[in-house]
Amino acid sequence: DIHPVLLCGGSGTRLWPLSRKSYPKQFVNLIGDESLYQASARRLSGAGFAAPMIVTASDFRFIVIEQLAALEMAPADILIEPAAKNTAAAICAAALALEARAPGALMLVAPSDHVIPNAAAFRAAVQAATPAALDGQLVTFGIRPDRAETGYGWLELSEATEDFAPVAQPLKSFVEKPDAAKAEALLSDGVHLWNAGIFLFTTTTILDAFAKHAPEVLEATQTAFAASERDLAFTRLGPEAWDTLPDISIDYAVMEHADNLSVVPYAGAWSDLGDWQAVWREADADATGTVTAGPTTALDCEGTLLQATNDAQELVGIGLKDIIAVAMPDAVLVAHKDRAQEVKEAVATLKRKS
Ligand code: GDD
Ligand code: MG
Repeated sequence: DIHPVLLCGGSGTRLWPLSRKSYPKQFVNLIGDESLYQASARRLSGAGFAAPMIVTASDFRFIVIEQLAALEMAPADILIEPAAKNTAAAICAAALALEARAPGALMLVAPSDHVIPNAAAFRAAVQAATPAALDGQLVTFGIRPDRAETGYGWLELSEATEDFAPVAQPLKSFVEKPDAAKAEALLSDGVHLWNAGIFLFTTTTILDAFAKHAPEVLEATQTAFAASERDLAFTRLGPEAWDTLPDISIDYAVMEHADNLSVVPYAGAWSDLGDWQAVWREADADATGTVTAGPTTALDCEGTLLQATNDAQELVGIGLKDIIAVAMPDAVLVAHKDRAQEVKEAVATLKRKS
């Protein structure tokens, strides 16, 4: 079986005011009638998949159980991080915990905040990645790029893939978050894909990779895991050692340095849903490109997102073009759609004021 590991640590501030520190975006029903976290868990369930391991913060320990229970699922384990130390530490801890119960097991690491509408096609891609992962490869999933995105990792293929068949092929290199000029070059050379941020490997392969490329992460995580405490359904990692961990992502700590990388191209739709512009892009728009959700009315609007929670006041837009408006009972956001990334800075400003 493949053991899913769901990362639930991010705070998703670019989706403020819907996403809050105490209730981040992966737990909100952003699109459709289940949360992104629930959709991720369900996508990686069924034949061939073991129960998921969840890596999260103490604040979310009950939400992760409740939302799984609503799907009639139960976690294999819930690892509680004493502090957010980014994905290298989270994945290393999950690998140690899984290795302790199922030595050499296959683990599929996935964010809990992505949109992948075709679950069956995605599961097929994961199954297609299995032989390479069992063969000691760190397998990534590659998405066909359509813009010079600087917020993603980029995967260099050995040869251009025309048909995008879900078959593992070796990777030449991995570039995390290139600058704008580099991203333009990677977009136009035809041999680069986006890294979906989802990985398949065995516990042995990833622990070896940590030992080789990020021994300081491995050592501190091993100490924190050895000091962990069982508390009901939770495994609380030891805070002293955890505190000494560097804040670094798996992409920078391991993937950029590894030489045993493979990629399985994934042709289906995939979105990181990182900001409101992405929410607008992924939602069902009317003929004018306008998206409305909740108690809202749009008159003569274009390329606009009006979103209100059911307990918000009525939100009305007239003659708006390329605007994002999000209403909640205690906060309202109005922004130009092209500046959706800046919501993150607005939230930082709000924090300084309070
Ligand atoms: N448990 C836990 N703890 N989860 C975390 C932590 C942490 O400290 N930090 C981040 N995560 C979770 C986030 O909630 C998210 O689900 C996932 O790990 C990835 O983190 P992001 O911070 O969203 O990464 P990114 O989007 O900038 O970049 C990654 O994903 C891109 C695709 O979406 C990279 O893997 C890129 O290469 C990739 O292209
Ligand atoms: Mg992300």
